[in-house]
Amino acid sequence: MEPIDSLHPRWLRLLAESGLASEFTRGSGSHLYDAQGRAVLDFCGGYGAVSVGHFHPKAVTAIAEFLSSGRPALTAIGVPQVSQVLAHRAVAYACVPDHVVLFGGTGSEAIEIAIRACIAGTRRGEIVCVHGGFHGVTQAARELSSPLFDGADEPIAGIKTIRVHINDAKQVEHVVQTGNVAAVLIEIIQASAGAAEWTLQGLGCVAAVCQRTQTPLIVDEIMTGFARTGSPFAFHRLDGLVPDVIVSGKALTAGLVPLALVMIRRDLYYKACDNGMPQTLLGSTFSLSALAATLALAVLDVICADTFCAHAAQAASALLQSLEGLADGGLIGDVRGKGLLIAFQPLMTGDQPDAWSAYDFCKGALSRGLVVTPAPHAADFVVLTPPLNIGFEEIEIFEQITRDSILEARATT
Ligand SMILES: Cc1ncc(COP(=O)(O)O)c(C=O)c1O
Repeated sequence: MEPIDSLHPRWLRLLAESGLASEFTRGSGSHLYDAQGRAVLDFCGGYGAVSVGHFHPKAVTAIAEFLSSGRPALTAIGVPQVSQVLAHRAVAYACVPDHVVLFGGTGSEAIEIAIRACIAGTRRGEIVCVHGGFHGVTQAARELSSPLFDGADEPIAGIKTIRVHINDAKQVEHVVQTGNVAAVLIEIIQASAGAAEWTLQGLGCVAAVCQRTQTPLIVDEIMTGFARTGSPFAFHRLDGLVPDVIVSGKALTAGLVPLALVMIRRDLYYKACDNGMPQTLLGSTFSLSALAATLALAVLDVICADTFCAHAAQAASALLQSLEGLADGGLIGDVRGKGLLIAFQPLMTGDQPDAWSAYDFCKGALSRGLVVTPAPHAADFVVLTPPLNIGFEEIEIFEQITRDSILEARATT
């Protein structure tokens, strides 16, 4: 086919120049295949969305049955029963039976819904967010994220953000007490910052401050939700924590169609509605897609099946063991994260990480048959979010490719 340049040409050129322009024509389980049939191991999993592997049979069956049923995916009028069932299953899975659900198309949209609900529900205007965070690409979600490489950080009319440091609960306390804060927005594990994590103590302090000052706590679990980090949601790691708002997406539809959701404390939801927000809280065209909800229910069934999470836990400890072995051998530096959201520092030139070492690693690994991505806010970290049903043999191959890629890079410097 003739080269075409209609799609974001600058980005495509950048990918081509950095050796990351591969195209895959087939996916199956934890593998992607190019047009020549070459298999590569997928430890990125569509940025954590491919939770149950590419084309899990149950996900495929759910979509096929839906398509052959003749049921419409979008109706505009009315709310599909299946979306209501999904909302019920989601709050039960998250153990927040008193929360209500709002759906969004993408994670970014769900973040916007969450902050709008908090601004309306509290009638306050400021959002506290955290350095190193990533919440999406729409204008407000982006303003709440740390700037990416282009340094753009344009303010958005109507939202004032206050950025604090991860684990600095005192700073959160100060801004919440002195400001006009509508919500505190955190990721318990920041994938984009190389799996930087809130300590349980820091998390507990922030939750306590939020509760004392009646400031909603929003946890962005778009990356960490639905069993990614070894518990249903990352917030479950802190006993007794019930965030006012939980935002998730990605894993719910296994990377096949977009769907995200906001679980919001019922009284906060009603306050937001009473304060004039009902229309904008309802989400966008695809929020109530019956196809997406049908698929999500099938994915939830897979995740909740008897042995699924037990396997994910064993795979996570095998992966950690592999990485610890590489660290003991001096090939990688820090290893961080939980469950199957793990980040590590490849030491490409010696015993210290270079600023952009993760990019060099990803390029070398791809040429050897492994897809991984750098952490956008910590360019010396590679982030791993493989499918939760990744095999033990695949973890061994990952280890081998990681070792070979680093040794080869060292041999040529
Ligand atoms: C933690 C987090 N929040 C929000 C988003 C945005 O989600 P989406 O890309 O579906 O808009 C992402 C996407 O990577 C994410 O990792």
